[in-house]
Amino acid sequence: MLVTGGAGFIGSNFIRHILTKYPHYSIINLDKLTYAGNLENLKDFEFNPNYKFVKGDILNSELVEHIAQDVDIIVHFAAETHVDRSVLDPFSFVRTNVLGTHVLLEAARKLGNKRFHHISTDEVFGSLPLEETHRSFHEETPYDPKSPYSSSKAAADHLVRAYHHTFGLPITISNCSNNYGPYQFPEKFIPLFITNLLEEKKVPLYGDGKNVRDWIHVADHSAAVDRIIHDGRIGHTYVVGANCEKSNFEITKLIVNCLGFGEEMIEYVKDRPGHDRRYSVRPHKIQAELGWNPQMNFDDGIKKTIQWYIDNPDWWRRVKSGEYLEYYDRWYNKR
Ligand SMILES: NC(=O)c1ccc[n+]([C@@H]2O[C@H](COP(=O)([O-])OP(=O)(O)OC[C@H]3O[C@@H](n4cnc5c(N)ncnc54)[C@H](O)[C@@H]3O)[C@@H](O)[C@H]2O)c1
Repeated sequence: MLVTGGAGFIGSNFIRHILTKYPHYSIINLDKLTYAGNLENLKDFEFNPNYKFVKGDILNSELVEHIAQDVDIIVHFAAETHVDRSVLDPFSFVRTNVLGTHVLLEAARKLGNKRFHHISTDEVFGSLPLEETHRSFHEETPYDPKSPYSSSKAAADHLVRAYHHTFGLPITISNCSNNYGPYQFPEKFIPLFITNLLEEKKVPLYGDGKNVRDWIHVADHSAAVDRIIHDGRIGHTYVVGANCEKSNFEITKLIVNCLGFGEEMIEYVKDRPGHDRRYSVRPHKIQAELGWNPQMNFDDGIKKTIQWYIDNPDWWRRVKSGEYLEYYDRWYNKR
């Protein structure tokens, strides 16, 4: 299996899931090691004979064609993923998410139509009104991306489908809701808030805090991708989520309280431009067709996640320095 972006948050959790469940599988992890990629995420697999890391860019077609020659499947996680960064620097999102996906599709086609699974997001469907709680995203929802990040992921999804329809490439796509869990880079909402509080700093809550996200533990997402790559129908899309809608304020309050603080630690900051109001996904297809169901309830998952950051200060202190601090400063203070 060639996994792209396997040194990032979800990719590393997925590799751990696969090598633990199927120890006889071999994985090549192709990752450029951007600010978000971290080899420490898979340190325990460093000497596993079935795991090989290759540092490289998915836009390097020669390298991709070389390392993909003998694989049975490409599972594509690599991407620029932070919406706020896509507002500051949209081009790097178009470059990696659109052009990079195209390079991988071309390699898969040239190498005799390799099986290809594309990891995408529910953000391609746009934003739902807070008050229309009966509405959720599903496989037939029209695309309506709003941010440079979600637009680049939508463009990639369209290319993946086009390679199936035009060249017969055996593809599947998963559009998953917001993930949380261990090894998430602390610029994203949940780890940013946990680590800020561990440093006794305030947490920057956007706008009125009422925006709603549909949360899934990364272990459940990994298990969903496992089911799709093994038994998903070729050419099909599966929406993935754990039926767990929470407002940003609810989550903030939970984290703040769990770490022994009060609401005085919440700092309301200027909203993200074009901030999507609500995401909600209906994962009926994957549940009915593939028998996948989320196993982690949110209360347990968030407590375990908070504990993981408490137990791994070296990990997040190292990544939350240098280039990251510069970015944080630019976004929250100088915007
Ligand atoms: N995090 C979420 O909540 C979420 C939800 C749904 C879908 N997704 C999708 O899941 C995938 C993984 O997300 P994540 O949160 O783990 O991201 P992440 O930012 O933690 O990791 C991305 C990884 O991709 C690598 N990468 C970036 N550009 C590259 C390039 N040009 N060549 C090779 N490697 C490159 C980075 O080094 C990093 O290791 C993405 O495709 C994202 O769109 C994420």
